[in-house]
Amino acid sequence: MLVKIIVIFFMAGCQVKQVDTLEVLPGATSIERGKRLTFSYGCAVCHEISGINDYPGNIGPSLVNWGKQKYIAGAVPNRMPELILWLKNPQAIQKNSAMPNLNMTEEEASDIATYLYSQ
Ligand code: HEC
Repeated sequence: MLVKIIVIFFMAGCQVKQVDTLEVLPGATSIERGKRLTFSYGCAVCHEISGINDYPGNIGPSLVNWGKQKYIAGAVPNRMPELILWLKNPQAIQKNSAMPNLNMTEEEASDIATYLYSQ
């Protein structure tokens, strides 16, 4: 189990690095940027997400039909500001959460949240 967690964190770390090298397409919408970021940050390593992974990431809960879910991590209402906070710092909402802090910016979190709600 510990090895599995270390491997997952390592994979997530590799994905984070890719973000630096991604070109941002001029004129891309928030949804398009969010989809790209969701892919680059490796969210699908842990989550099942429509349009991102062909295999089910099952470390975290499925994010399919995300907009229909009422709470984030069973703790706060599932709304845009709370989701942005969650993405930037999961432990700010759920102290012992297994979801890693991926050190993303406010803008990146906003684009990813927009993408998740567009599902
Ligand atoms: C290393 C695995 C891992 C990675 C990478 C990861 N997550 Fe998570 N995520 C989790 C876990 C585990 C939970 C459940 C945490 C909890 O409930 O405290 C979670 C919970 C969530 C939730 C709340 C789900 C719910 O049902 O309440 C959202 C939304 C979410 N993650 C989005 C993302 C997004 C977007 C990314 C990429 C930017 C991402 N996660 C990357 C493991 C991960």
